[in-house]
Amino acid sequence: MAGYSSTSPGAWRANTGKTLRYRILGAILALFLLIFTIRQFQAHSPRHYTLSNQQLSEDLLQKFPQKRKNVAVASTFGYHFDVYMTVAWTLQRVMKEGKVQVYTPGPFYFDFQRIIDSYNLYDGTYKDYNTLVQDVTGVSDEGGIDLIVLGTCEVDMRHWHEKLLEAWDARDAAHKFQIVCIVHNVRDEAWQPMIQEWSRRDAIRLLPISQHVGKTFMKKFEDIARSTDLSIKSAGYEYIPIDAHIPIIDIPDLPDLPATNRLFSNAVIQGSFDSSRRDYDRIFADLNRSLHIEPESWGYLPLGDGPSFVQDTSIDRPPFKLHLVGSGWLNIPTELKELIVFHTNLNYTDFYQLMSGMDACIPAFLAADDNNFKYQASSSIAMCMETNVPILAVRELREAYGHIDDDKITINRPAVMSEFQAIRALRTGDASSFLASDPSSSGITLGSHPRIRQAVEDFMRDGWVHTKDGFDSCKRRTWKENERVITKILQDRA
Ligand SMILES: *[C@@H]1O[C@H](CO)[C@@H](O)[C@H](O)[C@H]1NC(C)=O
Ligand SMILES: *[C@@H]1O[C@H](CO)[C@@H](O)[C@H](O)[C@H]1NC(C)=O
Repeated sequence: MAGYSSTSPGAWRANTGKTLRYRILGAILALFLLIFTIRQFQAHSPRHYTLSNQQLSEDLLQKFPQKRKNVAVASTFGYHFDVYMTVAWTLQRVMKEGKVQVYTPGPFYFDFQRIIDSYNLYDGTYKDYNTLVQDVTGVSDEGGIDLIVLGTCEVDMRHWHEKLLEAWDARDAAHKFQIVCIVHNVRDEAWQPMIQEWSRRDAIRLLPISQHVGKTFMKKFEDIARSTDLSIKSAGYEYIPIDAHIPIIDIPDLPDLPATNRLFSNAVIQGSFDSSRRDYDRIFADLNRSLHIEPESWGYLPLGDGPSFVQDTSIDRPPFKLHLVGSGWLNIPTELKELIVFHTNLNYTDFYQLMSGMDACIPAFLAADDNNFKYQASSSIAMCMETNVPILAVRELREAYGHIDDDKITINRPAVMSEFQAIRALRTGDASSFLASDPSSSGITLGSHPRIRQAVEDFMRDGWVHTKDGFDSCKRRTWKENERVITKILQDRA
């Protein structure tokens, strides 16, 4: 606010109080000053509060020159190719000159190459990841690689840190390269001490797949920045730029499901079958409980006195199915055998096909753990958005994953409802038994709390069906933001 303090409004009035003309002229001047001050303020303040500098509009960005022209997208790790190849896709869309090359361990799993080729995500060259250092060290006619995007920095830095740092120091001042670290988990700390030397050289920036991971890293770097250890304090941690790039590709042939007369009947939990990452046990117990109390609302009937349930064939409404999509093995209760459908090791083509028929995604994050809200980004959230499946999300999840924070694509589950209380209410169109219940036996029903009642009523009114148009508009906004971030990186802007 330097412009304002050097021209105190009081001092100015003392000199120009004489005629109306001066006053008008003065007012105009003051207005200009004020506008100038506000602009200055806007241009400088947001970086401290948001990950990316929102004030730099796309139009403005187009006016700056592209500084990085020879980009390597590289990884030693066999996974997360869907993440870094989406960055390669964005790079190729926004680069006005230069080239991108991909360095990988080999063919992508689950037939992802077919997706890249048939949707035209990337048409550059692929190289063995073992040739990266050689290409960075060697001087080519274009002046060498000047930007290196690492697909999983937690793994890739541990492999390449020393060699790349050596290569960086060996270059002259005019030919230094930048590292863009795609990071996945704030709590994976083994590689993090390596950030220090890159930060000291102002040669690193982070690119997580969701805003919340970036915010947690930013907080962490601010804490580190005030260290009493001079070698850490001097590395300038608080100036490491952090943005987010959301790994969502454009799947052209997603169906436009009818918006009316559908019964909520297919929910999906997507991700590796790992009970330490997802709340399968609680989820199964909840569904089992509800199935025993009100089997007909799920489209089932108890079979004799045993623990089994069978489809109720007397109605022509589809029964509810819970789809588990991923890899590995899970034990499921006998009672749920008819409800649960496993889909393991699908290739991407079949995965997209299956996902696009789902009514909702259940994130199923562990209730007693905030990992996926603060430290790690679940790729499942991006995949559900990518395939147009609405996410059954509590408010905290929407706040963490900014790209799905939109009523057009999210089902807003009040946290007071469990996933299956919410789905049952949506399936039957009736939340009255939920509101009349008193799950903690406190003598106070849920519905007697005015804001809980309001939230549940809003939830029921908003419904669960979301249109393809809604998803398309949210995805377009995400792609634009991805483009803005990558443009900024190519221009060396924080
Ligand atoms: C399912 O629920 C019923 C009724 O509450 C209970 O008796 C049964 O033990 C539950 N099954 C499992 C596997 O938890
Ligand atoms: C994907 O897997 C299915 C089933 O295994 C197979 O029929 C299909 O050809 C595969 N798709 C591609 C594109 O390879």
